[in-house]
Amino acid sequence: MDVKDLLLQGLLSSQKYIDISFRYDSQGSVYDQECADLEEFYHYRSEKAVIHSNVKNVVSHLDIPLMVFELGCGNTKKSQLILNEILQHQSHLDYSPNDFSKDFLVDVCQNLCTIYGHQLRLTPMPGDLMDALAKIKNYRDRKLILWLSGLQCFTMVKQFEMLSSIASVLEANDACLLTVDVTQSRELIEKAYLDYDYSKPNAKLYTNGVHVINRELGGNINLSQFKLEGRYVEDKDVSKASYNQVWLTSLCKQSYHLEKVGKTVTFEEGEKLLLYAGNGMSHKYTQKQLDHLFARARLRIMKKWENEHCALILCKRIF
Ligand SMILES: C[S@@+](CC[C@H](N)C(=O)[O-])C[C@H]1O[C@@H](n2cnc3c(N)ncnc32)[C@H](O)[C@@H]1O
Repeated sequence: MDVKDLLLQGLLSSQKYIDISFRYDSQGSVYDQECADLEEFYHYRSEKAVIHSNVKNVVSHLDIPLMVFELGCGNTKKSQLILNEILQHQSHLDYSPNDFSKDFLVDVCQNLCTIYGHQLRLTPMPGDLMDALAKIKNYRDRKLILWLSGLQCFTMVKQFEMLSSIASVLEANDACLLTVDVTQSRELIEKAYLDYDYSKPNAKLYTNGVHVINRELGGNINLSQFKLEGRYVEDKDVSKASYNQVWLTSLCKQSYHLEKVGKTVTFEEGEKLLLYAGNGMSHKYTQKQLDHLFARARLRIMKKWENEHCALILCKRIF
């Protein structure tokens, strides 16, 4: 299905939703970067700290030389810490970054060319990470798959599918390195994620999917006719994880014609437009939940470095 069909599918379903990936066009990716500077947004800082303090140790556990594929790479600021350390051990690095937004990825790659020159041989893979994984399957060289702050964004069902896909492309000497949020304090989570101030980048990022709908489907959905709301749902079941839900509540009955697809969408007063698909987003895991999820996806956790908020996990495929 193309972007228009997927967006429309969400809007026409009985519970209206916008899949989380659609908020990340080039503008959304800029908001995502800006979130890193928010005082209350603990995740970015703690993730950077855990990578910074352990990067030498992490790379000492990798079989080198290797090539690096990065899923949902964002601006690559944190990944550069890892690339720099790998480059201490091999003179060149084949690096293939993936991100949902093609335009944003072009800018990121231009920046990487300026920083690294010929040391980095870049093969960008724009688009959905599941499509990138299908391409990665064809590479026979030893590889590291890097995925920072990505897994937790998706529904539990998708997390399992994505981790299983990663497992399926790993050979015996390959590894996957990823970060997840392990925060368990409700207070800190609510402060960081459930802030509905439209002037702040997190609220702008949450609602960016509406701008994407207006652009892609030719609509004029008016955000001022909705209220941004959400909640944190704690779930300690070993086969699940805690998560956030964020939605827009319609303040009145309102209809919008979507010119590019010839459809009209109507919101009743009080009706919710979920800003994620499935159970929720921004998952937070306990140790047991991580063990369960990874084992089910046929991935063995080889090593874990962590602080109060972030776990950096090195895993390999279980054959
Ligand atoms: C929370 S950000 C993390 C960015 C970066 N890895 C970091 O740690 O700074 C999630 C990233 O995943 C990307 N993304 C979201 N959905 C995606 C998908 N389906 N396929 C590929 N990338 C996706 C977004 O564009 C965004 O850059």
